[in-house]
Amino acid sequence: MRNLLLAAVATLLLCSCSAAQREAASCGYNACPKPVPGRYNVHLVPHTHDDVGWLRTVDQYYYYEVQFIIDTVIEELLDNPERKFTYVEMAYFFRWWREQSADKQAKVKQLVKNGQLQFALGGWCMDDEATTHYVDIIDQHTQGLRFLNDTFGDCGRPRVAWQVDPFGHSKEHTAMLAQMGFDGLYYGRIDYQDQALRRKTRRMEMVWQASQDIGSPRADLFSGKLYDGYCQPGGFGFEYGDEPVQDDPQLYDYNVEQKVKQFVDMVNSRRQVYSSDHLMLTMGCDFQYQNARKNFKIYDKLIKAVNARTAAHNITVYYSTPSCYTKSVHDQNLMWTVKSDDFFPYAHQAHAFWTATSLAGRRSSATCEPPRTNSRRSSRRPVWLDCSGRGRSWRPSSICCVRLWELCSITMECLVRRSRWLPMTTHCESRLESTRLTLCCKVRGESHWRQCGILRHVFLQPGKHLLLPIHRLE
Ligand SMILES: *[C@@H]1O[C@H](CO)[C@@H](O)[C@H](O)[C@H]1NC(C)=O
Ligand SMILES: *[C@@H]1O[C@H](CO)[C@@H](O)[C@H](O)[C@H]1NC(C)=O
Repeated sequence: MRNLLLAAVATLLLCSCSAAQREAASCGYNACPKPVPGRYNVHLVPHTHDDVGWLRTVDQYYYYEVQFIIDTVIEELLDNPERKFTYVEMAYFFRWWREQSADKQAKVKQLVKNGQLQFALGGWCMDDEATTHYVDIIDQHTQGLRFLNDTFGDCGRPRVAWQVDPFGHSKEHTAMLAQMGFDGLYYGRIDYQDQALRRKTRRMEMVWQASQDIGSPRADLFSGKLYDGYCQPGGFGFEYGDEPVQDDPQLYDYNVEQKVKQFVDMVNSRRQVYSSDHLMLTMGCDFQYQNARKNFKIYDKLIKAVNARTAAHNITVYYSTPSCYTKSVHDQNLMWTVKSDDFFPYAHQAHAFWTATSLAGRRSSATCEPPRTNSRRSSRRPVWLDCSGRGRSWRPSSICCVRLWELCSITMECLVRRSRWLPMTTHCESRLESTRLTLCCKVRGESHWRQCGILRHVFLQPGKHLLLPIHRLE
């Protein structure tokens, strides 16, 4: 029942800067749209989620997809000052920024200064919360946030953390985000049964008291579960080919009334699970906005059409950002439930757990297991890959390797024997990010390497040794 204790929203601290600084700045919360009193306010949040390596390498994604996203989004923001956009992964923004002319850079600085272009999270990438070591988490956020501060000053500072793609969430990770100074955190995935219950009881948003050791309010963070992942609501994925708003009555297939009804119905169903007068609609998905005009042009029409009929449905909609949504909800001064444990393990449906699946699925044949430690420790705690053969169920005869996919231009197999450190080789030193580390192993006498685990989103620094946390098998 502890979780049900109510906490005042005072634990959600907005802006640690002085009042004078706040007044002076045109960006940040000052650049947020003013909520419309007496109406239900819908925050339409254009964003893109750009994995820092997945099916392609980081540089390939940049050249194939992401450069066009940032190029076209900037053009569309310059085209209409009402429009806003939220960008997250500095690994890409950094690459893009370096290529721009001084003139373009000045224009982008202006967009950041007037709050049209905002950053959320602002780390090099959105890190995995199950397997990643805290040193890497802090390093990669430091790298991204330093770049933002150096480039845009205080206006570039992200106010909310944006963990929309990880598969489960840890309180330790959240405690770190709280200490980094974020005012809010949003995530896209929690266990399906937990989500069903939270929807029913309107507990999709909460104050996460993320560390009993550090205590409140230092480790507290206002946290919100997005309604259904981070992509557009069904029927509004215009880049996916959903029916656009067709607003010329002289043409065939004029559909403004239908699109408004579809939008209002969707909003009215979503608002049932949240408790404020505000709703965040995340309009964007993986690698979307490669042709930003398509989305923005249609959203402009949708916003205009919905707002022209506000009296009929009591909904008003405007371009916004996750931080502006957070500010609006904060200003309502509501009470929230408190959470103090993890969002692990994660299952998206019955019998579909994502925690350590690649390891657990091969248990019967796996010979490359992490050493088992105290079995009463919770399964989310990382344990170190120890190839020394001293672990209880570690077979001294096995050889471990770490195959670094997509880290270097060639696939490498690095033997890690009698050591839990993987030395970085000179081949790797020019690359900062790995996209995926596949652990594999083989038993003496066998000729094949078996894959026995995958680590996602591990951040590497040149010249540094890499520690490999592995998830436990339970
Ligand atoms: C419109 O919505 C707002 C916010 O939920 C609410 O306070 C207000 O009572 C509603 N007005 C009508 C006429 O339903
Ligand atoms: C941000 O940059 C300014 C100017 O270079 C510097 O004074 C400040 O310490 C930086 N802030 C952080 C948090 O590093």
